[in-house]
Formats: sequence, C-alpha cells, structure tokens
Amino acid sequence: MTEILESRPFGSQYANVYLSIFALFCFKLFVKISLNILTHFYVVKGNRKEAARIAAEFYDFGQGQSSWADRSPLHEAACQGRLLALKTLLSQGYNASIITIDHVTPLHEACLGDHVACARALIEAGANVNATTIDGVTPLFNACSAGSATCTEVLLEHGARPQAELCQPSPIHEASSKGRTACVEALITWGADVDFDIPHLGTPLYIACISQELQCTRILLNGGANVQKGRFLDTPLHAAAQKDCPDIIKVLLDFGANINARNLELKRPAEMAPPSSRAEGVLLRHEATPHSLCQLCRLSIRQIMGRPRLHLIPQLRLPTLLKDYLQYR
Ligand SMILES: *[C@@H]1O[C@H](CO)[C@@H](O)[C@H](O)[C@H]1NC(C)=O
Ligand SMILES: *[C@@H]1O[C@H](CO)[C@@H](O)[C@H](O)[C@H]1NC(C)=O
Repeated sequence: MTEILESRPFGSQYANVYLSIFALFCFKLFVKISLNILTHFYVVKGNRKEAARIAAEFYDFGQGQSSWADRSPLHEAACQGRLLALKTLLSQGYNASIITIDHVTPLHEACLGDHVACARALIEAGANVNATTIDGVTPLFNACSAGSATCTEVLLEHGARPQAELCQPSPIHEASSKGRTACVEALITWGADVDFDIPHLGTPLYIACISQELQCTRILLNGGANVQKGRFLDTPLHAAAQKDCPDIIKVLLDFGANINARNLELKRPAEMAPPSSRAEGVLLRHEATPHSLCQLCRLSIRQIMGRPRLHLIPQLRLPTLLKDYLQYR
C-alpha cells in the first residue's frame, strides 16, 4: 500500500486537498445563492417577516441603520437600488409612501443612495416628494447630501419644495457645505432662495466659505447671493479670512465684498486672518489697490439689474465679451 502511495507523483497527493477546498467553496456559494433566492422569493411573495428574519441573519447591516422590523421591503429595495424588486413590490400594491417610525419613506432611501431610476419609479407610483422625516429631512435634502444631481433634478421637476421650512434641514445649505455644485445649481435654477438665512448657520454663501468650497461660492454669487450676508455680523469675507482661503477671498472681493465690514467683535476681515497668512496678504494688497473702474461698473450694472433678472444677462444685446464679463466668466 505504502509503495503505491509513494510511487504516485508528488503533486497528485495534493490534488485531493485542492479538490476538497474547491468543493467546500462551491458548497458555500451554493448555500449563499439559495439563501438569496429564498429571501427574494419571500420578499416577492410579500412574506415580510420571514424575509426580514432571513435577511437579518445573512446581511450584515452597519450600525445606525434602522431595524428590518421597521423598514419595509420597499425601503430595502430603494436603499439598495434594486429597480426590479422595487417595481415588483409596487405592482403588488405596496404603498409608495410607506413610512417607518421615523417617517422615512422609500424615496428618502433612493435619493440618499443616488438611485435615480428607483426614485423615478417611486414618484410615478405616487410617492410624496415633499415627505419629511421627524427630523424634517426631505428626499431633496438627502439627494443634496449625497451629491446626486440627477435625483435633485427629478425631485424638483416633480414639484419638490426647493426651500426647507424654517428651522428644518436646508438642502441648499447642505449642498453648499459639501461642495455639491450641480445640486446647488439645480436648486438655484428651481427657485431656492440663495440668501436663505438660518440663524445659527448663516446663509448658504457663508456656509460655503466656512467649508472652503470655492466652486459653490462662485455659483452662489453668480446666482445673485448677497456678498455681505453671512451669520449675524460675520460676513462671508470674515469666514474666508478666518479659514485662510485666498482664492475664495479673491472671488468675494470681485463680487464687491466690503473689506471694512466689522463683526460682533468689531474686527475687520483682515484681522480675522491668521497672522502673516496668504489670506491676510491678499486682503492687505486689496486695501492698497482698490477695484478697477470696469470692475466697479460690473458691480453696479449687476446691482441695478437685481437678482431676479441676472439670468437674463445672456439675452442682452451686448458683445459676448461684455456679457461674459458681466457673468464673471
Ligand atoms: C400611503 O401611506 C401614507 C403615509 O403613511 C398615507 O398617508 C396614505 O394615505 C397611504 N396611501 C394609501 C393609498 O393607502
Ligand atoms: C410640495 O410643496 C410645495 C410647496 O409647499 C408645493 O408647491 C408642491 O405642490 C408640493 N408638491 C407636491 C407634489 O405635493
């Protein structure tokens, strides 16, 4: 017996080991697939409890997620962007606006996950685009938070309120603080107030400056945001100086920010900048070399036109060069 074993080539003794490992792998895969099919079957059949039990056992939910008992299969499908499952559930008569204890709807989940096809399907099935959770969060807020420009557009096209109610989480502030430029642009286009002032946060422009978001700062200013409005007496320029952002400071100055504005502590922006920082350098240089005449003209033309008419600049009968200049291009 031993002779036979020894006479076999070296590799073949190990072939059995590899084979068993492979078999084990296949078995595990088989078990996983069948469990998934089983879960799907239960979900589709509407046996929520059983689906919940199986899913809770085999999907690893992160912390902070709501429990399965509270979330419906529709929430789950929307959260994971499973369009087919979602449509199946909807066709079975699931209420598209079904809510959890916290009043989270499937549309909230779809927007947070940037699943635009799911969001569309839910809206078509009658989901409420203005739904608010108990924390005042709307699907639009979630879309802005996730930076989903397409979900933002879809919601706005279907009549979502671009502006939060007072004292509720504001989509434009969220988008501005996270540098979601496309979302900020969409919100402005659909009529969100660029100067919406939340007492403890300030304006979107102030938030963009504090968060050092240059592009958002530009978009808000181009959308007609008041360059002087920040938080209480702190102007956006104070925020940019404090954060040492020379690029943002230059943009704010181009849009006519007042370099001598004083905040609650009676400090000017230059005094807010870290000593001998680049921000301080830019501010001091600007004091020595004020605006050029053409810049002053641009500011006064834009002021005379007023915010509601700024979007009409491209239609003015002026050379393209001038129109671009008026739009800071
Ligand atoms: C769907 O659910 C929402 C929120 O719970 C409720 O207001 C609405 O009446 C429900 N619609 C139907 C058709 O049951
Ligand atoms: C959402 O709210 C806005 C403002 O309150 C309203 O004009 C709009 O009709 C609402 N949309 C839907 C679909 O209810």
